[in-house]
Amino acid sequence: MKNPYEPILVKIAGISIENEARDIKTIRLAFADKNDEEAFSFLPGQFAELSVFGAGECPIGIASSPTEKGYLLFTIKRAGLVTTQLHRAAKEESIGIRGPLGNTYPLEKMEGRNVLIIGGGFAFTTLRAMIAYIIDEANRPRFKDLTVFYGARTPGELIYKTTLREWEKRSDMKTHITVDQAGGDWKRHVGVVPAVIKEVSPSANDTIALVCGPPIMIKYTLPVLAELGFKAESIFLSLEMRMKCGIGKCGRCNIGHKYVCKDGPVFSYAELQALPQEY
Ligand SMILES: Cc1cc2nc3c(=O)[nH]c(=O)nc-3n(C[C@H](O)[C@H](O)[C@H](O)COP(=O)(O)OP(=O)(O)OC[C@H]3O[C@@H](n4cnc5c(N)ncnc54)[C@H](O)[C@@H]3O)c2cc1C
Ligand code: FES
Repeated sequence: MKNPYEPILVKIAGISIENEARDIKTIRLAFADKNDEEAFSFLPGQFAELSVFGAGECPIGIASSPTEKGYLLFTIKRAGLVTTQLHRAAKEESIGIRGPLGNTYPLEKMEGRNVLIIGGGFAFTTLRAMIAYIIDEANRPRFKDLTVFYGARTPGELIYKTTLREWEKRSDMKTHITVDQAGGDWKRHVGVVPAVIKEVSPSANDTIALVCGPPIMIKYTLPVLAELGFKAESIFLSLEMRMKCGIGKCGRCNIGHKYVCKDGPVFSYAELQALPQEY
């Protein structure tokens, strides 16, 4: 049996800087061994432990969709020891990956229904994967209307700028991009994400909402969704707790009797309401 703590070798095949502050990078990873690539079977919502040899490892959401073949994307904000080393790593360098870990967005519940995606800041990574998965030609008929709300503090802090522009041009999805403070020629929404959702008022009818963002955004978004008629069972959130093993062994990430790394990171709001408020 394979050791679950042993990382697989991957090579950094590309690096892009996402924001004006230059502290968020997306790295494109390619597997060193084709067999490892085939064995790495994942769905949107899952994460992996990325390791820099000699520095350690940290959990990062998988930002690409399994429909985007031949590589994995991870978008990383520089926070401390490991993420700083990941920012320093150069193209062609080898790092380790352990995964895929955790559960996925609730695909069976989303299928045949409208999907509302709400993201804020750099915590938009696995939602990017989810959107790429839904709009893939083979998958698009499996879902009804797709509406995306995404916000950042300023235009320079939006991530995936090129992809956002592509989504805005598509007729099979509605994309609402907002910033708290607009600069010069900004032509999209201005205002925090919950305010823009309230203004646009997407229908709760037959709709599953996926939410991922900073705690303050989530705090003000949930009452807006309730006002629009969303039930707690139809809202799913992805949590970012501190983690160590990532496989439900060390007890570092638990909320009550749930392990965020194994039972999550995706939970329905109804499930979270039944747990201690430790997240
Ligand atoms: C399931 C999951 C998915 C994640 N996805 C992403 C992602 O896509 N992109 C991304 O940039 N980050 C993501 N994170 C957060 C990322 O794991 C942390 O920023 C990282 O572990 C910090 O490691 P470090 O060694 O650089 O920092 P450390 O040196 O360990 O710590 C630096 C600072 O960050 C704090 N910190 C450490 N871990 C966390 C955490 N999990 N949440 C909040 N604060 C923390 C520490 O208390 C300290 O103040 C995710 C976390 C989880 C659990
Ligand atoms: S990180 Fe070890 S149990 Fe979740």
